Amino acid sequence: MTYQLTKLSAWQVLQQHYQTIKDSHMRDMFAQDTRRFEKFSIHLDDLLLDYSKNRINETSMKLLLDLARQANIESWRDRMFVGEAINITEGRSVLHIALRNRANTPIRVNGKDVMPAVNAELAHMREFSDQIRSGQWRSYNGRRIRHIVNIGIGGSDLGPHLVCDALQPFAQNDLHMHFVSNVDGAHMHETLKLLQPETTLFIISSKTFTTSETMRNAHTARDWFMRQVRDEKAIARHFVAVTTNVPLANQFGIAGENIFAFWDWVGGRYSLWSAIGLSIAVSIGMDHFEQLLSGAQQMDQHFKNAPLEQNMPVILALLGIWYHNFFGFETHGIMPYSQYLRRLADYLQQLDMESNGKSIDREGQALNYHSGPIIWGQAGTNGQHAFYQLLHQGTRPVPTDFILPMRAEHDLPQHQQLLTANCFAQTRALMLGKTLAQVQQEMKAQGFDDARIATIAPHKLFAGNKPTNTLLFERLTPYALGRLLALYEHKVFVQGIIWNINSFDQWGVEYGKALATEINRDLAEKSESLPHDSSTNGLIHWRNQYYL
Ligand code: F6P
Repeated sequence: MTYQLTKLSAWQVLQQHYQTIKDSHMRDMFAQDTRRFEKFSIHLDDLLLDYSKNRINETSMKLLLDLARQANIESWRDRMFVGEAINITEGRSVLHIALRNRANTPIRVNGKDVMPAVNAELAHMREFSDQIRSGQWRSYNGRRIRHIVNIGIGGSDLGPHLVCDALQPFAQNDLHMHFVSNVDGAHMHETLKLLQPETTLFIISSKTFTTSETMRNAHTARDWFMRQVRDEKAIARHFVAVTTNVPLANQFGIAGENIFAFWDWVGGRYSLWSAIGLSIAVSIGMDHFEQLLSGAQQMDQHFKNAPLEQNMPVILALLGIWYHNFFGFETHGIMPYSQYLRRLADYLQQLDMESNGKSIDREGQALNYHSGPIIWGQAGTNGQHAFYQLLHQGTRPVPTDFILPMRAEHDLPQHQQLLTANCFAQTRALMLGKTLAQVQQEMKAQGFDDARIATIAPHKLFAGNKPTNTLLFERLTPYALGRLLALYEHKVFVQGIIWNINSFDQWGVEYGKALATEINRDLAEKSESLPHDSSTNGLIHWRNQYYL
């Protein structure tokens, strides 16, 4: 029988349960049950997930877990782990977990164990990154490389960029990392301004080696290099590629030994664990890169083996479903209390929204429920002074994850304590709110008269009851970061299964790419008669008036 989410008995019981709980306030739930934290928190070593500040009780969790079981989460998870082609629209396996399979157990695609190839690429990455870091790798004229420019976009940029920023304390200080993604020439222009060809290495990162933005940027970088160096042979010391499309990288002029491979069973947004992470390996060294993989593997094992009740990705996924599908909340906030994690929301936007921003189910039918939420956020405490006003007193509730490494990677302990206090205070304020009686009492104590209190008090009310998860871990090490990112990958996986969508294709992005190619041709040809709608034609004509 085909899977119909809204017909599942767990779904229907959850709808009834929602009616009984939707008006309950967490303030009362905490007052009535002093053991909420013990009941609704789990940990994996030092990684704690406190989900007690959610609009749930034990029945909610039981029913949500029933939903997970009725959606066959465990069997889909196992199918992913054994390499079944669960990316049905592209006929591919989904095996980013193989990239961090440190136990090296065989994982087969079409009967062939992928682990030898994975290990060979890791060895290639180690050899190369060691040479760059030690200075053994020399420029065309014998200089050391000091600047690494990763040219890529989407998954070939966001993951490496996030990780290089996040793990800056582990980086080699005399190697400067740059990431050029935007086809807006300003990005490349401003980056090249800082560089000399003889001390720069370009890593062209593109799964397909056809993405127009990346190819434009790669050609511009090569032209810049050749204008100054004027020696084709020098390219080999300054350009390497990471791709599944070796022939196209060769055509671009990159020698075989400078091409790092990966495979079609690694999705772009799941690829930082592959050679797409080469910039990471160069920056923090291969030992640290392997710790990143080990952290991810710990989460893989947890996801695979922990009972659903104790399974962090499953719990996070179910809470998301609870809010998006039952409460109707449309967005989800990511607030890392760590400057090093300031790119986390950008990274998770692609991971989540490109994976689960779908409206057709696996059988090709339109969904009659919402799928992926809008993901957004930024590092605390900056967000507090920008948009938290809306979180506290706006009309749209935003379930939010607060993420905090407890120990800092710097020697400024007072900063860390204040950061921590802010993080804990925000989730408490969002949960608790402030009642009219509290506001009136406070204002009275401050000496306001009754008339003033009556006018101002409504503005100082906080409804509270705003759901948050808090993730704490000891330090932002490569291991801890790998574990955290894998947690979100599996959360997105679980949600995709429940929503019955293919989380592993991205046809929506492809359409825009195709139209951009057509319009780019029109712009180049400057033709008067255009085939598009009147708006698009009008925009092209208007642009031509000023640009030509
Ligand atoms: O944005 C769409 C997308 O296909 C992403 O999935 C991918 O990460 C990105 O483009 C870059 O693709 P490529 O690595 O092939 O250049």
